[in-house]
Amino acid sequence: MSKTILIVFGTRPEAIKLFPVVHALKAEGRFRVVTCVSAQHRGMLDQVLEIAEIAPDHDLDLMKPDQTLDGLTAALLTGLGTVMDAEKPDWVIVQGDTATAMAGALAAYYRKLPVAHVEAGLRSHNIYHPWPEEVNRKIIGTIAALHFAPTETSAAALKAENVDPDTIHVTGNTVIDALQWVTKRIEGEPALASGLAEIEARFAGKRIIGVTSHRRENFGGGLESIARAVRRIAQRSDVALVFPVHPNPNVRKVMDAELSGLGNVAMIEPLDYPNFARLIAISEIMLTDSGGVQEEAPALGKPVLVMRETTERPEGVAAGTARLVGTEEDVIVTEIFTLLDDKAAYSAMARAHNPFGDGQAARRIVELLGNVRQSQTR
Ligand code: UD1
Ligand code: UDP
Repeated sequence: MSKTILIVFGTRPEAIKLFPVVHALKAEGRFRVVTCVSAQHRGMLDQVLEIAEIAPDHDLDLMKPDQTLDGLTAALLTGLGTVMDAEKPDWVIVQGDTATAMAGALAAYYRKLPVAHVEAGLRSHNIYHPWPEEVNRKIIGTIAALHFAPTETSAAALKAENVDPDTIHVTGNTVIDALQWVTKRIEGEPALASGLAEIEARFAGKRIIGVTSHRRENFGGGLESIARAVRRIAQRSDVALVFPVHPNPNVRKVMDAELSGLGNVAMIEPLDYPNFARLIAISEIMLTDSGGVQEEAPALGKPVLVMRETTERPEGVAAGTARLVGTEEDVIVTEIFTLLDDKAAYSAMARAHNPFGDGQAARRIVELLGNVRQSQTR
């Protein structure tokens, strides 16, 4: 009888990093593949489901406006547990470090179901940066029977925590699979990434900076400081900032208050994945506190300034394409101006390379899932 694999996800980044795995598992044909979305995110999740052509088998539709971590987690545990009881999977796959991933792993553990963790072993070694993701990923790491580490660095972090080395596999990060897939889709169908045409025309001749910001630990003072930095950068007439604003009300209220009405700042709705890939491509610099964008920008040779105190993705910094700038207004402005005005500083960062993977991560994950013996998991 074929193994049942239950893939659980709920947010935009999980969907982006798991669609290559869903596609590869389905193409393999040896598994019964069941997808369950918590819909911790609604609109931003649906954008990915649409382009990846995934119709979930279960949709818990959990998102509430301005949801709390405890309310969300409680709903996730009971909702995901019910799906696990009904589907009786042989494996549960979770990705990354969101509330959905953590609750998915915990609900599986409560049923003694083996968990495979995609993007395992990322560590900042600071439980408040990023918050609450650092603890989420440690909980998942404690539970998982298989750890798909994107890089040697993440594999080493797991070994340092005494995780059984036989259960750790370096696969590359599936985000590179996703990025390559969407790039190919755009090549075949350019209209998929034409959503920015109006903005591109409006800002013709200007140097584009792509901006994203949503981290919970930056709510309040951190976000206000980031917004003031964007405002100051926008005083330069040679630049334009394109900022797809996260729908979290804690983000929106700050950005609306600080940035509305500025001629060379385009605050727009979250872009679907093809159009966001296009935004990276047309940007000279990415300014972000996102995890995924730290991985995608190096792959496309774009310098990325990371508005965080620490990163669990040191590979981009080590390779020279990413730089940690924190959330201090003056530091962000100085770093952006240096990249805009110092050609040597810019070219030193603007080199395309892929420290995070080669686009074959999903294939490796599916092979490993096919080979593992169930007796190895308990
Ligand atoms: C979540 C993850 C974070 C991840 C981020 C990616 C947790 C604790 N946080 O944070 O790790 O980096 O997603 O974006 O799991 N909202 C909408 N529409 C959407 C999505 C969100 O309106 O499509 C609004 C809702 O008001 C929602 C709020 O944003 O309550 C917060 O969503 P939530 O998933 O709790 O937190 P994020 O900050 O998105
Ligand atoms: N992204 C997108 N549209 C946007 C902004 C981001 O498709 O408007 C993609 C981006 O390419 C990356 C992922 O969303 O793959 C990152 O998601 P986010 O920053 O929300 O979460 P994080 O990676 O920080 O967990």
